[in-house]
Amino acid sequence: MARYQPHDKFFHRARARGLPSRAAFKLEELLARYRLLPPDARVVDLGCAPGGWLAVLHAALDGRGRIVGVDRVSCAAPGPHVIIIAGDLRAGEVQAAVMDALGDRADLITSDLAPKLSGIRERDQAQSRELIEASLALAARALRPGGAMLAKVFMGAEFPEVRRLFAVHFSRIDVVRTRASRPGSAELYLIARGFRGAGPEVAAASPSAAMATRSQRDD
Ligand SMILES: C[S@@+](CC[C@H](N)C(=O)[O-])C[C@H]1O[C@@H](n2cnc3c(N)ncnc32)[C@H](O)[C@@H]1O
Repeated sequence: MARYQPHDKFFHRARARGLPSRAAFKLEELLARYRLLPPDARVVDLGCAPGGWLAVLHAALDGRGRIVGVDRVSCAAPGPHVIIIAGDLRAGEVQAAVMDALGDRADLITSDLAPKLSGIRERDQAQSRELIEASLALAARALRPGGAMLAKVFMGAEFPEVRRLFAVHFSRIDVVRTRASRPGSAELYLIARGFRGAGPEVAAASPSAAMATRSQRDD
């Protein structure tokens, strides 16, 4: 079994570049591979603290567009066109604050959300399910038709149901790993493109995924 190395090469690279987390490299790689970020894009970054993905999005947009970051834990905004909403994504007022901060429909939603694990399987699965449902509910309100979502998920028994839920909302889904993911990690990324919009068929599909849960050590 792969040994967990907290200070691997990506940790040292992140430090050298002044990035708040090694998670930044995963997003950097996926954005380059899938060209998900149009110039002047409006982006929502879910689970944004401590700010690794925000730093990558900010650098890629180079002062253009708008980025709205959401996390239960507050963190610093890397630039003037980045707005941080501190709160629980599952709360209606937090989703409303995201809509206000965006000002218009988003081109891309990124999600690196990971629940705080209790070690109690049923509770952890329920929390993961709630995060997925909250992310997709926000996407239905905030994403422009044709927009994209990049979301971290975990391979497990519940993965097919998670994928099915995304397929209700998006016309194309790719499942990928990144080079910066830790060896042996169950972490995967869904690249969901072609957002269908919040039509009646989407509203009727009740989210019932139970996402596999893993430790936040994957970051
Ligand atoms: C893996 S970390 C994100 C790392 C970040 N993408 C980066 O690059 O620095 C997962 C984040 O999800 C956040 N989170 C978990 N549940 C949440 C919820 N219900 N609402 C908002 N944020 C949540 C945690 O607070 C944590 O900061």
